[in-house]
Amino acid sequence: MSSQRPSPVRRIAAPDISARKGGVPIVCLTAYSAPMAELLDHHCDLLLVGDSLGMVVHGLPNTIGVTLEMMILHGQAVMRGSSRAMVVVDMPFGSYEGAPESAYDNAARVMKETGAGAVKVEAGAAVVDTIAFLVERGIPVMGHVGLRPQAVMTDGGFRAKGRCQSERESILSTARATAEAGAFAIVVEGVAEQLARDITEAVAVPTIGIGASVGCDGQILVTDDMLGMFDWTPRFVRRYADLRSEIDRAAAAFSEDVRQRRFPGTAEIYFAKAGQA
Ligand code: KIV
Repeated sequence: MSSQRPSPVRRIAAPDISARKGGVPIVCLTAYSAPMAELLDHHCDLLLVGDSLGMVVHGLPNTIGVTLEMMILHGQAVMRGSSRAMVVVDMPFGSYEGAPESAYDNAARVMKETGAGAVKVEAGAAVVDTIAFLVERGIPVMGHVGLRPQAVMTDGGFRAKGRCQSERESILSTARATAEAGAFAIVVEGVAEQLARDITEAVAVPTIGIGASVGCDGQILVTDDMLGMFDWTPRFVRRYADLRSEIDRAAAAFSEDVRQRRFPGTAEIYFAKAGQA
């Protein structure tokens, strides 16, 4: 009897992503559900369960209201739907900016309850020590610099970053400190091209750009944006599909069929078994 079993696919892990610095660009997309994760898994190196799910799935005005429980629930779904891509779960606003010990408790809970490979934090200068604290205790951390959606209240909106000298220097030094603290990769969002290139050159770990030019080590988009689910998207989004129109067209056709009693048809109903009353 052969003891050979098909070997299970090994998931991409933090060291695999780190090793891709300067190599073939790293492909990342957001995912919030099991079916979407299943569709994206073999195209992507990394699936991010972004706290953008607050706006994309739950209709919130920004990401501030997203809870740890929401992140865990969606993280579990994405893990169930995927088997190959690394899954990273965003730490939501309020779950990591205080004491490193409470950040550890929350991040450990995310790792245990979802089985994800890492967490992501929006890395301002105040969070750098926490990144080191988590990494030293076995939690892989992805940083996020530049436009930080969780800072929307202090920033007064979502706007591109690093367009003046002082902002450039501060973002570059945060990115350096984030990498030195042990982050395995850094999302660089909404910054001018030269700054994205400077960060990519300055840090030893891969940069994953979103609105940050082709000068990064990889790219990420919010999947629903690139699928054309919204009328408005930021300038940096490229639409690869127009699902909003497709869904509108399908829903209109369904409603017309129902109103005209064309649905369901004979192919779509059940009949009694032959010989049974
Ligand atoms: O929450 C999110 O989806 C993100 C990406 C935009 C990088 O942080």
